[in-house]
Amino acid sequence: MLSRLLVTGASGGVATQLRPLLTQVAEQVRLSDIREITDLAEHEEFIAAELSDQAQVDAIVEGCDGVLHLGGISLEDTWEKILVSNVIGMHCLYTSAQKFGQPRIIFASSNHAMGAYKFTDMLDASALPRPDGYYGVSKAFGEQVASMYHDKFGQQTLVVRIGSCLPKPKDPRMLSTWLSPRDFISLIDRSFNVEHLGYTIVYGASANTRRFWDDKLAVDLGWEPKDDSEQFAAEFADLTPYEDAIDQGLLTYQGGVWLKAPLI
Ligand SMILES: NC(=O)c1ccc[n+]([C@@H]2O[C@H](COP(=O)([O-])OP(=O)(O)OC[C@H]3O[C@@H](n4cnc5c(N)ncnc54)[C@H](O)[C@@H]3O)[C@@H](O)[C@H]2O)c1
Repeated sequence: MLSRLLVTGASGGVATQLRPLLTQVAEQVRLSDIREITDLAEHEEFIAAELSDQAQVDAIVEGCDGVLHLGGISLEDTWEKILVSNVIGMHCLYTSAQKFGQPRIIFASSNHAMGAYKFTDMLDASALPRPDGYYGVSKAFGEQVASMYHDKFGQQTLVVRIGSCLPKPKDPRMLSTWLSPRDFISLIDRSFNVEHLGYTIVYGASANTRRFWDDKLAVDLGWEPKDDSEQFAAEFADLTPYEDAIDQGLLTYQGGVWLKAPLI
């Protein structure tokens, strides 16, 4: 059990789903974001911080023995915005972690770091990044920051290339990429409790029948996702509502339509 877990990006969609479950991994939870949270539970506190401001990031990291780094731009956006939140923000976080005892970090990377691979490609952690936009490039950069801090300083990180973390899949592609909140919590639990985490990469997807990712290189982590999106497959048996998206490559590239979309 962690004493105090820092969650960045705590006002966002993923953190909002995970918050009620985080009591399983930490006694106290420090929530941080640029958007304020007011509905705090007893074990939670909120400290606002801009991820690209080193002093503000120092203030949130100090006193935490684990970090769940969800903060940043979470969709394709302008390079300028991605640079500030995802590139400079990543540098600030790892700089702070060195100052304050190297808490283990779970870095929310993305399937979009690998989005240009096809559905027919079965990837493991040794696959080279193939981003499908600047957002994916920033996640690939973040993974390399974590790798360098591990090799140079021994900072331990779990990189989780999240597929689609939602209560349930919203389109046919998500039958492959869905990550249930329950499986994400068990992954977080393993990451903070496994004896040696080192620098580990996993694909953040549940035990979906249609998964196109293989976590065999992360077997030491001992993570066993339980949920399978197949329980929702009947909802997408009729593909008529998705025909446009399918024409645009929704069922071709692992990152969906992003590869063929223009840069912003
Ligand atoms: N939702 C998914 O299925 C999914 C899939 C792949 C990767 N991810 C990654 O997981 C993380 C969480 O995703 P989400 O869906 O909750 O995203 P979200 O956009 O809902 O939340 C991200 C939060 O980060 C905050 N933020 C952005 N820039 C900031 C900055 N400069 N300083 C401080 N806070 C800042 C935002 O205010 C926001 O509340 C993101 O890093 C995202 O890239 C999510």
